[in-house]
Amino acid sequence: MRKLIAGNWKMNGQRADGTALAKTLAERARGSEAPDVDWLVCPPFTLLHLVAEQLSGSPVKLGAQDCHFEEKGAHTGDVAPGMLDDLCCSHVIVGHSERRQDHKESDELVQAKAEAARAHGITPILCIGETQEERDAGKAMDVLTRQLEGSLPAAGEGELVVAYEPVWAIGTGRTATAEDVREAHAHVRAQLKKAYGDTAGAQVRILYGGSVKPANAGELMATENVDGALVGGASLKADDFWEIGKAAG
Ligand code: G3H
Repeated sequence: MRKLIAGNWKMNGQRADGTALAKTLAERARGSEAPDVDWLVCPPFTLLHLVAEQLSGSPVKLGAQDCHFEEKGAHTGDVAPGMLDDLCCSHVIVGHSERRQDHKESDELVQAKAEAARAHGITPILCIGETQEERDAGKAMDVLTRQLEGSLPAAGEGELVVAYEPVWAIGTGRTATAEDVREAHAHVRAQLKKAYGDTAGAQVRILYGGSVKPANAGELMATENVDGALVGGASLKADDFWEIGKAAG
């Protein structure tokens, strides 16, 4: 499966640096030296419009970091999937652990967002992952099962991406070992096949996220059932993000 290298800029970037980062990436991805991967950037809402202009005509896709599940209405501060579609977003991250923590998002809510995104032809990137405490208690796989059972969108039309992001590896510089990742991704793959059947379950990309950087990308991307990366901090540096893509391509 062709790998997806997705950058989650989180709450970073102003107009000047966001524009410059998107422009650099778009130029490189158009070039003949570009690795054979799919590129995606997910800037904050404030930069979607500007980044969309920079990416226009390039192979780099645009995504958002969250969406509401309703079509429109009285939901102050929220953004509807149709609005993202209007800005040519192909993907949206849902259920990131930072949103589960900061905004108390439940599996049920994450599922509603994923289904709403798919109804608009937007591919949800559904994030799951255990905390350090849960891993230490030997419950990591149980947590992944519970999160998937609670938040996977119903079978139907549309693509889906799942991102395994152990919470203890996010922004900490501590990466999961290749064996941790292999075990978790095999578990997620089995759950996807159980939910959608062998064929459809095998087609869902499973990304790894958590302190991915150029130095560890080669080993991680070569691990079985790892179909790409969801990159946080390193996606803010054009050279690092590019090197991660090259390691995957
Ligand atoms: O969405 C991205 C992940 O939270 C990983 O972030 O690469 O800064 O650890 P990180």
